[in-house]
Amino acid sequence: MPIVTILPNETFCPEGARIEAEWQTMFDGYAAQYPELAAELKRRLAGDLPENWSDTVMDALCAAELAQALNAAGIKFPHACEYNCACATCHVIVKEGFNSLNEPDDDEYDQLDNAFGSTPLSRLSCQTVMGTEDITIEIPKNNRNLVHED
Ligand code: FES
Repeated sequence: MPIVTILPNETFCPEGARIEAEWQTMFDGYAAQYPELAAELKRRLAGDLPENWSDTVMDALCAAELAQALNAAGIKFPHACEYNCACATCHVIVKEGFNSLNEPDDDEYDQLDNAFGSTPLSRLSCQTVMGTEDITIEIPKNNRNLVHED
């Protein structure tokens, strides 16, 4: 499963972090909803691949947005518009694995224009869907949000 490495950020994640366990939580939820596909994924991971395997299960497992995964993992960084692509407070810079992520849409680009320190590797984490590769992200030091959500 992909791993998200968060570089140290003085305010939100002083020691840095690696998120892997979140995928187990996602898998458990997926398995409850689609037990047969989840069982196939387990067989695949164990090296016993069925002939007609597809990546459907993996795609579904990776469909969680990055911001929600970060917050679920206890990294409480801003998300002032509650993940609705309307504030840019969830801005992150993707240092590794950028091309494995979903494509940003025009609304995301518009919000990134308002983000402090936006770079070509910037994303709104609330609009970012993980691929199957590990990624490394930096939470920018400056953020236009004046409050912290819990
Ligand atoms: Fe507002 Fe992501 S939480 S744009």
